[in-house]
Amino acid sequence: MNATGYLAAVGFEDQLRAELGDVIETHDRLMFAPGPERRVFWAQNVWRNPVRIAIPSIKGAAKILRFNQRNWAMFKFDHFSRAKLIEANLPHVSAKRQIFGEPAPTAPLGSWTLIDPDTIIAAMDCSSPWKNGEVEFEEDKVTPPNRAYLKLWEAFTRLGVFPQEGEITMDMGGSPGGWTWVLHETGASVISVDKAKLDPKIAKLPRVDFRQESAFGLDPEKTGPIDWLCSDVICYPDRLYRLVNQWMETGMATNFICTIKMQGDTDHAAIAQFADIPGSKVVHLYNNKHELTWMKVPGVTDQ
Ligand SMILES: C[S@@+](CC[C@H](N)C(=O)[O-])C[C@H]1O[C@@H](n2cnc3c(N)ncnc32)[C@H](O)[C@@H]1O
Repeated sequence: MNATGYLAAVGFEDQLRAELGDVIETHDRLMFAPGPERRVFWAQNVWRNPVRIAIPSIKGAAKILRFNQRNWAMFKFDHFSRAKLIEANLPHVSAKRQIFGEPAPTAPLGSWTLIDPDTIIAAMDCSSPWKNGEVEFEEDKVTPPNRAYLKLWEAFTRLGVFPQEGEITMDMGGSPGGWTWVLHETGASVISVDKAKLDPKIAKLPRVDFRQESAFGLDPEKTGPIDWLCSDVICYPDRLYRLVNQWMETGMATNFICTIKMQGDTDHAAIAQFADIPGSKVVHLYNNKHELTWMKVPGVTDQ
């Protein structure tokens, strides 16, 4: 097709269309733009080198896919019953939820979709090892005080690295405590900073040092070296950009995972500023809402 496919995160089709600019074909939230893969932030999965295939029959379609690769994930938006019949003729792909702490799947996973009864588009090589980029965790519905912890679980799982026992982490905008809980569970100690209080059961965890103040008032030199600086603070992207630069310039933080919250309209210029920070990456996590995640982890995001 001499194009690349981009599957928008649900609800963020406009953002993806805007950043691609020259979409040549759209099937629901799956958009195709000319040329090789581009740097985009609102895609949940990227289909590299997609091909359009005329299918002879349901069994014939499955045979063509199986001939090329074992594992295939279906993206379905129309022709549901025919698509399901093709899927039924493909090897079963495990629908097991991701367990936090376990590595991301490693088996190659292609994607395909039925665009009309006789045509599929398929890509053997996709950016996400999860079906349609959906990182569904086996959740802990009891301990964390909210579901924000899923963002940090996903970030660490995608990075493939986690804080280690004895490391110092900082959680900016820590209240009520989902991220603080995740960081504490790794065995690291956590400086949790928020103007609002932590959930009492998180505040009393042994390695949590809660500081009720503004994250923007902290002096990195006085705070001391931090192995992981995590921020989920609600603020304008520009303000977060200045904050992370302050920490990078002083060299007081090694790894960063920060949520860039969009306030109102999507600020594409502000996003590009973060993405241009050398050795870092901006992604829309499956568990992100109208926000992106900026990560700077030497040895991982600079590869
Ligand atoms: C989305 S919530 C964070 C949720 C948290 N990550 C969790 O897992 O529970 C955003 C937090 O940013 C905090 N916040 C806003 N401005 C702040 C500031 N200047 N300094 C520190 N925290 C701030 C808010 O009080 C709020 O608790």
